[in-house]
Amino acid sequence: MTPLEKASQYQDKNRIKKEEKPVFHMTPPIGWMNDPNGFSVYKDKIHLFYQYHPYSEVWGPMHWGHSVSEDFVKWEDCPVALAPDRDYDAAGCFSGSAIETDEGHVLVYTGVQEKKDGSKEMIQHQCLAIGDGIRYDKIKENPVIPGLKLPEGFSKEDFRDPKIWKEDDIYYLVAGNKNEKQNGQVVLFASKDLRTWNYVSVLSDNQEKYGKMWECPDFFPLKDKHVLIVSPQDMQADGKEFHNGNQAAAFIGEYDRKNHRLVEEQVISLDYGMDFYAPQTLVTKGNRRIMIAWMQSWDMNIKPVEQKWNGMMTIPRELELREGQLYQNPVRELEKYRVEPVLCTEMKIAGACQVSGIRGRVLDLSLEILNGEYHTFTVEFAKNDIYHTQLTYDPVAQTLEFDRTYSGIIRDVVCRRKIKIKEPKETLKLRLILDKFSVEVFVNEGIQTLSAAFYTTLEAEEIVFLCDGSAKVNIEKYEIRLD
Ligand code: FRU
Repeated sequence: MTPLEKASQYQDKNRIKKEEKPVFHMTPPIGWMNDPNGFSVYKDKIHLFYQYHPYSEVWGPMHWGHSVSEDFVKWEDCPVALAPDRDYDAAGCFSGSAIETDEGHVLVYTGVQEKKDGSKEMIQHQCLAIGDGIRYDKIKENPVIPGLKLPEGFSKEDFRDPKIWKEDDIYYLVAGNKNEKQNGQVVLFASKDLRTWNYVSVLSDNQEKYGKMWECPDFFPLKDKHVLIVSPQDMQADGKEFHNGNQAAAFIGEYDRKNHRLVEEQVISLDYGMDFYAPQTLVTKGNRRIMIAWMQSWDMNIKPVEQKWNGMMTIPRELELREGQLYQNPVRELEKYRVEPVLCTEMKIAGACQVSGIRGRVLDLSLEILNGEYHTFTVEFAKNDIYHTQLTYDPVAQTLEFDRTYSGIIRDVVCRRKIKIKEPKETLKLRLILDKFSVEVFVNEGIQTLSAAFYTTLEAEEIVFLCDGSAKVNIEKYEIRLD
């Protein structure tokens, strides 16, 4: 049996029951998952691959798991797509992307290989596999971009996570890399035939400021600008920005096509929670730019020991630029799964208040705080007598604080995060997407988001609104049900 067959067979035999997993957030059938890979549309289906180690709940030799969806919400597992089974990827098939071509569905990934000099050091190079949406074959020309193609001084050990696209009959890809000073940068390559690639430029770099190694780049036009998404490692916090050591950031600006360089105008955190990394985007036939990310942190592994799957993706989010600001919102396809509505208009909340019909762990819950006299307004969820997780708004400081201290966490990890609300308005709008073990908060139509995992026992499903004065609110709640 090949390593690929073995992995698919293992996944089929050990698949976790769906009742034990989130309802609409993509999770692996069994074992460990990190970055989303190959997020793409092929033959009208949405494909999502991911960094996968089926055999344990911790990171190990990387495979590419695979699932498909018609609508970004319901996911179906497929056989494992790639296993580390060649010389050039024997130490792992690392992150990458995919594109629909006349030859089929093309996956571009990083092959990791131990150096032959006995040093135990690894080199990374870019490889291709072509398939029909289910089975993928690595091509004989691999690796198509060996480290040798990089200019002198650029790291051959840190050269990974290619993101591919096509423009005017030319394929381009960006990959994460380090320069001679060990600083993160994104390198751009071009090809006519997917086999021969030429180095073009350094598209952008960390300016000795934004982290060290840059992982998982993505580069695309959005409205009249270009956006570069990167996941810098070893990021330092700056005020209330960039609080994750492994951070996901967006560089927004103009693409200087002559020099193939991004001239950035703003750099922003893509998410303000604890669990968000390595986002990747696709573009739909209708030209919507959709982003998905790994909803977990490399540094804080909080899942219960007995849980045999590890890793969730975020809800896919539509990206938009409005008046120069980047907005993220859950894909609209989620709305067709909303049931059991409860709508409250201009409801007065004073003290602690529970609303009939508003409870549960799989919810789409929106709240608009209209006005009032109070110092803080809090929403507690995943709550019972012992547990709760909460979000607190301070209208004077214009801050929002997330706190999972009482979610049942038994590890010494970061539980609180306070964010400064960007471009505050008269009212505050919050949309909370809850799916058993996570919350994604969309602030003021998605100008900021906060994603976090928590593994509170599922009996804790109360929701309490708390106001230390009195406030008027609009509430809209739906359960999400897939069948
Ligand atoms: C990001 C990352 C990538 C790499 C992959 C390995 O989370 O470190 O740079 O390709 O994970 O699993």
